[in-house]
Parts: sequence; C-alpha cells; structure tokens
Amino acid sequence: MFLGVDYYPEHWDVKMMEEDLKRIKDMGSNMIRIGEFAWHLMEPEEGKYDFSFFDHVIEQAKKYELTVMFGTPTATFPAWLAKKDSSIFIRDEHGQKMAFGGRRQYCYNSPVYNEYSLKIVQKLVAHYQDEKSIVSWQIDNELGHEGSDMCYCSQCELDFQSFLEKKYQTIDELNARYGTIFWGQTYNSFTEIVIPTKTITVHNPSLLLDWARFRSYSLSEFAKRHLATVRELKGDHQTVTTNLPGGFFDKWFDHNDFSRDLDFVSYDNYPVWGGLKEPISPSHLSMTLDFVRGLKQENFWIVEELMGAQGHDVIGYLPRPKQAQAWAFHAFAHGCNNMLFFRWRGMTRGAEQYCLGIVDANNKETRKYKEVQQFFEEISSRKEIVDSPMKGQVAAIYDFDNVWSWRYQQQSSQFNFTNELLRLYRPFHHLNSSIDVIRYDVDFSDYKIVLVPVMKLIDKDLVRRLEEYVLNGGTVIMSYRAGVKNKDNNLELGEMTPGALTNLLGIEIEESESLHEGQRVQVRSNRGDGRVTSCTVWRDLVAPTTAEALYSYNDPFYKDYACVTVNKFGKGQAIYVGGALEDEALNALVEDIAASVHVETVETVEGVELVRRIVDGTDYYMLTNHNGVEETFQSIKLEPYGYKVLRVSEGGEWYEV
Ligand code: GLA
Ligand code: ZN
Repeated sequence: MFLGVDYYPEHWDVKMMEEDLKRIKDMGSNMIRIGEFAWHLMEPEEGKYDFSFFDHVIEQAKKYELTVMFGTPTATFPAWLAKKDSSIFIRDEHGQKMAFGGRRQYCYNSPVYNEYSLKIVQKLVAHYQDEKSIVSWQIDNELGHEGSDMCYCSQCELDFQSFLEKKYQTIDELNARYGTIFWGQTYNSFTEIVIPTKTITVHNPSLLLDWARFRSYSLSEFAKRHLATVRELKGDHQTVTTNLPGGFFDKWFDHNDFSRDLDFVSYDNYPVWGGLKEPISPSHLSMTLDFVRGLKQENFWIVEELMGAQGHDVIGYLPRPKQAQAWAFHAFAHGCNNMLFFRWRGMTRGAEQYCLGIVDANNKETRKYKEVQQFFEEISSRKEIVDSPMKGQVAAIYDFDNVWSWRYQQQSSQFNFTNELLRLYRPFHHLNSSIDVIRYDVDFSDYKIVLVPVMKLIDKDLVRRLEEYVLNGGTVIMSYRAGVKNKDNNLELGEMTPGALTNLLGIEIEESESLHEGQRVQVRSNRGDGRVTSCTVWRDLVAPTTAEALYSYNDPFYKDYACVTVNKFGKGQAIYVGGALEDEALNALVEDIAASVHVETVETVEGVELVRRIVDGTDYYMLTNHNGVEETFQSIKLEPYGYKVLRVSEGGEWYEV
C-alpha cells in the first residue's frame, strides 16, 4: 500500500529537503508525489532541459526509502512559452484571452501547446524511465478543472466544424437532425457553423449538445495523447494515471472516455473546499467515491486527500479534530487503496497560501501531523480489506449527454443533476446498501436494483437493455422527465412521454409542470397508510396504463393523476417517481423495495455509515461516524468522527477487529 504526501520540494530552500523527507518518512509515508507544476524548473529556456533538481530530490528520497509518483508538469507552462505564442491560451466566451499567471490556461486543441507539452513529457519520462524509485506517472493535474474544459478560440471553432463533418458526413444530414429550418438557420456548409458564444436568446439544442460532446472529445484526446506518450517511454515497473478533480457533473467532459487508458483511476478528495460553511453530506461524499470507483469498476487511489482547510481567497469550514482522519478512512471504505495527503507543508508564497497542509507555515508537527501519522499506522494493517474488490447490489446509472442536455435546458430553476442523482442514491445509502455509480453503457444485468435518475435523453438501446433487465427479474427506479428526448437532444413527433419507456413503465404523461423556489405540491399515498408528502422541482402528471399508482396528487385539477407508480413487467418491476419526492417518502418506498428484492440493508443512525467488504469469503464492515458527537452502533461506541472495523460472530454479535 502506498501512503504519503504531495511534496513540492522546489518551493523551499533546498537545505530543508533532508529534514522534510525524514519527517515525511517518520510520519509513516512510503511515497511522495512531486513534479507537477515545475515545467520551468525542468526547461528554464526553450529546449534547455535540466532535471538536476529532481535528480537530487530522488536521490534524497531514496535515502528515506520513499518511492515517487511523478507528475508531468503541463498544467502550468513557463512564461517564455506564453510570451512566445499566445495561440496556446484559452479564450472565453467573449474572446478574451486568459492571462499568464493562474494555471491550466491552455487550449487542448492548440497545435503549439500539444507540441510543446508532449515534448517536455517525452524528455521527462525518457530521463526517468529506468529510475526504480519512480513507480508511477501522473499526467497533467486535474484536467478540465476550474473552468479549463471550455475554450472558444478560433482553433476550437475549426476543430468543431471538422468534428461535426466527421459525425454527420453531409450538411443536409446535420440540418435535418438539428432542425435548422427553425429560425432559418440552415447551413450550406460546415464552415458556416460557429461555436455557441453569446447570442440573443439561445442556441439550437442539438448544436449545444454536440458542442458539449466536442469539449469532452477535445479533453479526452489531449489526455490520451499524453497517456500514450508516457506509456511509450516509461519503464515497465512504472504505472500511469491522472488525478481527477471533484464536481463531476458540472464538467464538460465524460471521465469515462480516458479512464480506460489509465492503469488506475486517481482522485483528489476534498470533502470541503473554499468558502463552504460545512462539508458536503456523507451521502454526497459516498456517491463521489462510488462514481470514481465506477469509472474502471476497480479500486482507486486518492492522490490528494484533504488535511487542512482549503481556499484560494475565501476559506470556510475548518475540519474538526479527527474529521479529516474519518474522511480518509471513509474513502478507504469505498474502494480507495492507496492515499497521499495534500500537502506536506502549506506554502508561504504564491497563490495557495490558504491551501493548508499537514504542516503549516509555522513548520511545527501539530495535531494534523499526528493525525496522519496515526492514520497511516492504522490503515496499513488493513491492506487485505481495503484491497478487496467491491461490487454493489444497486447501480445508479448516468449519461453525460443527458447531464449536458439538462445543463442547457434546466427547465426548472431548482434543477440540479447531482441533487437528483443523490435523491435516488441517498435512501440506499441511508440503509447502508452498497451502490455502484456507473455510466449507462456498463453492463447492469446482475444488479438487484438499477437507479436511473432524470434520464431525459434516452437511446433505444438503453431502453432495450432496461426492458430485458426487468423482464428477467430486475427492479428499475426511474425519476421524472425520463425518455422525453432522443440523443439529438430533440423531442419525438407522435410519441407520448415517456416515449420508448412507455411499455416498461406502464404510464403515459400528458402534461408536466416545473416547480420553482418555494413551490411544493402535495401528493398522497394510495396504499391506505394515509401518508401525505410533497414534490419540489418538477411534477409529471402521470396516467398509468398498466402501472399501479402509489402516490397521486392532492389538488383539485390533478387529483386523478399519479406521481409515483410501479409497473410489473415480466419477472421484475419498474418504478417511476414523477417529481422530486421528499426524502422521507422515498426512504419508505425504498425500504419496501429493498426488502422485496432482498437487497442487504443495515440500520444505523443518521451519519453513521457501514460498508461491507469481503476478503476470501469473510465479511468485514468498515464503520464511519460522520457526526461530531459520540454515536453507538450495536452497543459499540464510536467517538466523534470515530471509525472502526467490525465483524459479526456466528451468533449475530458485532465485534471490533
Ligand atoms: C487541487 C490541486 C492542487 C491544489 C489543491 C488545493 O485539487 O490539484 O494542486 O490546488 O487543489 O486544494
Ligand atoms: Zn481553444
């Protein structure tokens, strides 16, 4: 197991290095991650390569038996390159060129940037291909983060036109599929197509979706070129990865497209960042880790795990004593099996003075150092458990085309894709069922339940797979707006909503309404339990054909319409939730469904989470207390932010191991 820190030795007087490495080692580390951002140090002038500083770092690290993950430095290019050729820069929607000074201000499609960045990668990897202590390469740093996945430069425009030509072959085909007859936007040639910068009103929805796909393609192709270059030159003992930032569904790229080219997926885990008043919720945190694991359906690394408060200008919540330890443990519970903490010491100069590390500017070994040290000691003894592969009984599927379609046409001001994914995820998380968050094209046939949140865009093949899955006994839970559009981001003529899903769901939807801030509509249970609950964000007025209405609306105009339905289909069932139903009602619904299809559940108090791991047929349970107060699980006490590994005896008694 690799454990360690992100170290930036170039930030400090070289005389501090030995002492730093010794302290890093004493903390229980066996790895440092170095190099990303240090392009100028490696190529101070064009074509003059100098790796002597890092040669020295590596020599010193070896003395302390520290292995190395080396980051290729292309997220921050040198000032001489910026000065030399301004075509490398991202242009924003208004044509404004990004300035030198931040990071990742380069355009993926810039031929100049591709050439220079690949050259430094080649030189660097060739220089260290035989270096035994470098065991892994990380390309770039957080590709696409902080808005760097969007660019409106003239190169991007040209490449977008070629991208469209390749996809549609003829301009007539594009015109027909886009419906450019509307507002007289018919093109005579691909060269007439412009990238969707500011206009009056809005752009054509098909064009927008293709633009999003093109952004994703641009980033993925850039990543793949870099990965292939490293792979070609690296030593056989070296692996290659890249570190993914959070905020997945707010990005203009599909993480799956290049994840297959990685030896393992790496993630930067920041449960709280910047001005947030409080950390993201435990279910949200769990969902992000399940998403990361879902990219290759394998265990993953965390190469930046938060220890201190973070922020570039505004900084918010300070992780409480032991809270960051609990987050680290929780990440291991969800499939992380190697971890580096960000960062060894906070930097006194430069942009990230408030991105705090394990050691602060005072350079003392205070609480945070001791927490990391203790954590490394504890987790190293759990190798077998954390290396065990994970497979949930429940899958939540997503499609980036659908996510982008929602971003362009939000429909309700209250809509947010991540919230809607969480809405279906949370009740299962609440029951401690294990969930895999995977792209829609991954085989889901052997899950007990498949969650399909707000799948507005649907292709016929997915419908076929869902039908087959349910026919064979599967349970699908879909939420509102399902099947409204095709993959061109257009409606279908002559079809009732939910379109191709009508048979599977056994419903028809004649009308719908978006609900805005503060709007809530009442719904009542039809099962005689008297439950009255409500919906926000959206409501579909559902007319069941073969389905049974579980909840109906409680208002005079729409009392005959259902909000939640269940349809028996073959050996399985398809549930439809026609609005953003309140958590309590969803919890009750999910409890029934989980029990009926024998999904494993364990009851814990809110904020206490249990994850089952199986090592050679033996069950272990990783228990995390996300609450800042003492909690109890099966008479086992957990301190605030405490965590434990448990087993269950044959007599059904829980005990700590
Ligand atoms: C990111 C980056 C790091 C650093 C940290 C600060 O995730 O990868 O370089 O900026 O955030 O929190
Ligand atoms: Zn560009």
